[in-house]
Amino acid sequence: MSAFKKTPFVLVTGGKGGVGKTTVAGNLGVELARTGRRVLLVDLDLGLSNLDVLFGLSVGEPRIDRALAGECSVQECIVEGPAGIHLLPASSGEESMAQLSSDRRAKLAALIEEIAPSYDLIIGDSAAGIGPDVLGFASVADRVFIVTTPELAALTDAYGLIKALDQFGARTAVDIPTPEVIVNHASGVEEGKAVASKLRTICERFLARSPRQAGWLPRSVHIERCSSHQSPFALTPKRALEQLCISQIASRLTHLAPPPPASPSRSNPDLIPSLTPVPRLG
Ligand SMILES: Nc1ncnc2c1ncn2[C@@H]1O[C@H](COP(=O)(O)OP(=O)(O)O)[C@@H](O)[C@H]1O
Ligand SMILES: [Mg+2]
Repeated sequence: MSAFKKTPFVLVTGGKGGVGKTTVAGNLGVELARTGRRVLLVDLDLGLSNLDVLFGLSVGEPRIDRALAGECSVQECIVEGPAGIHLLPASSGEESMAQLSSDRRAKLAALIEEIAPSYDLIIGDSAAGIGPDVLGFASVADRVFIVTTPELAALTDAYGLIKALDQFGARTAVDIPTPEVIVNHASGVEEGKAVASKLRTICERFLARSPRQAGWLPRSVHIERCSSHQSPFALTPKRALEQLCISQIASRLTHLAPPPPASPSRSNPDLIPSLTPVPRLG
């Protein structure tokens, strides 16, 4: 059961920086929002956040750090992004946010919990590594997606993270879900499978855990281009391979987060009644 009342929480994380965590979290969120789900994307890369950059949003103040300091409500920090997705942005270069104390982490969880009932799904875009924030947020997640690339360094760090999660779970007696693996920058479906299978074999041997593959994404000029144009590739009008791949990953969550039965349209203004005001962004 999610830490955030009944709203499922999915953490997108990875051992290494630059492997595509933000790209996956942002586009996965947009893909699910496109299908009528009320999705909240939380920037949990608290020291060096950049989810808003992925969406080309000119997010001003306030951000999570101000809500944590009690200077504003968490609702005031929320901005609306593509496909009606809601984003809870963090600040970048804020040293005090790079690693939260356990008290502040609990307070952040409480702030998210406060708005959770307005959403069908919460996705967290995590920092890299095995720091206490990553382990702490993974321990309250319903599902953990670990992004890796075929590169040996990324794969080694993905294993390191799975091992750290395993040890953290044992030490704190928390049942952390076995992470699912997303292979980014793959040359094709076969390489995606091979990389995930290599990681699974090592985990089965040394951790008695069997992480499944949640999907893959191609190394792609289209993804690069969308990223430099600050627009999510999940919104590409033509059905491209990249989009099929992200919708396949999203399909792993459709059971966890069914769309609201009464209001499938994002244009319904009553969809998120408690979240006002949401600044309009050009
Ligand atoms: N499949 C891909 N093909 C091409 N470029 C990608 C792909 N995935 C991510 N990128 C690019 O790699 C860079 C790092 O991605 P990002 O999602 O920010 O990584 P992380 O959040 O893990 O640090 C970004 O410029 C992004 O556009
Ligand atoms: Mg990132």
